[in-house]
Amino acid sequence: MKTAIGDLANATGSAAELRRHLFYETSHSPALADLVGYDNAKDIIDFCFIANPYYPTPEMLEDLQRNFPNLIKSYPSSSPLMSQQNLAAVLNVNPDNLVIGNGATELIAHIDTTLIDRIALPIPTFGEYIEKLKDQRDAEMFALDPNQRYEIRPVDYMRWVHKRNMRALLVINPGNPTGQLIPLEEMIDFMHEAHDLELVIVDESFIDFAGEEIPSLLQVADRFSNLLIVRSMSKHCGIPGLRLGYCYSANLFVLNRLRRFIPTWNLNTLAQYFLSLLPATDSEYHEGRKRLIGDVRFLYNSLKENPALDVYPTGANFILFKIKNGMTATELQSRLLDEHQMYVRDCSNKVGMDDFHIRVASQGREKDAQLVGALQILTR
Ligand SMILES: Cc1ncc(COP(=O)(O)O)c(C=O)c1O
Repeated sequence: MKTAIGDLANATGSAAELRRHLFYETSHSPALADLVGYDNAKDIIDFCFIANPYYPTPEMLEDLQRNFPNLIKSYPSSSPLMSQQNLAAVLNVNPDNLVIGNGATELIAHIDTTLIDRIALPIPTFGEYIEKLKDQRDAEMFALDPNQRYEIRPVDYMRWVHKRNMRALLVINPGNPTGQLIPLEEMIDFMHEAHDLELVIVDESFIDFAGEEIPSLLQVADRFSNLLIVRSMSKHCGIPGLRLGYCYSANLFVLNRLRRFIPTWNLNTLAQYFLSLLPATDSEYHEGRKRLIGDVRFLYNSLKENPALDVYPTGANFILFKIKNGMTATELQSRLLDEHQMYVRDCSNKVGMDDFHIRVASQGREKDAQLVGALQILTR
């Protein structure tokens, strides 16, 4: 396959140097277009980046396309109010308690630099929370045990946090990359235990796939003034390219501190227009969400039939598995890409994780079945 890496390397230096830059200089995976070019990217199934395949609906995409020429020629609204109202309408919350970002990543950068001095976080985790700290040594890492599938026990974590006199902590629920779900009742107990902390960040970017009833802290968030919920919309709304994510807190003081650092026009016109479509398409959203939950269960059961894989339980729309036959995640990722045109997440560049874990996001039953077949061939 003719790759963008090859093309770019001709212009900029060696392919090995470029590969090192794309794969190892951040804790994220390279975008497919970086790896194989925009044209070839369409022929590859992307199980790496996590996005709901059933939303936006085809009608919404047509609507966005129809409005595209106008939208890119217009300035976005400089007031976040309308967008907050559109989002609040589907979340059933007060719009004043929302801050919307250019992806959750924009908000994480502001949280790290304006709200946090030191923070406790379990590893492996989503790397941005560490990487955007003013000084990465301010991250106190609670290492999860590979022999326990990196599972977190909230009680142990809280004990550890208290022992170190930490004032801020992070939990991602369901966890990324593990997919582990901490049930709502346990999270509520955890929040009570955390009453003496200044800031408890709970990233619920994947919670919409944790059950038909969404077990989110959002419904009880007003009881906890130190709680800041972070959610990426890339995953559950299937729009990683639009860049939308938000924070919710009952604590307006915390939100206002964040707001001071959000640039005017941080949301582009397409993203704002997309938010305006949410209230009228909410039932389609939940239909798609529930369908994807079923697909993930199917993928989980199919992967479990492969004796070379240890498949971890998940409450998210992705699944983490460990390769047990000695092949590394890097080798399996590269063979899936070269031989089967499938892109998966090699997790070995995540802090605290070994070299044998792959994460795959469900792309609907048909594509997932192709992935299961390819894995059977490559791991036997
Ligand atoms: C747990 C978690 N939070 C936040 C994000 C950021 O998402 P985005 O900036 O696309 O909204 C991600 C992306 O993978 C994530 O996994």
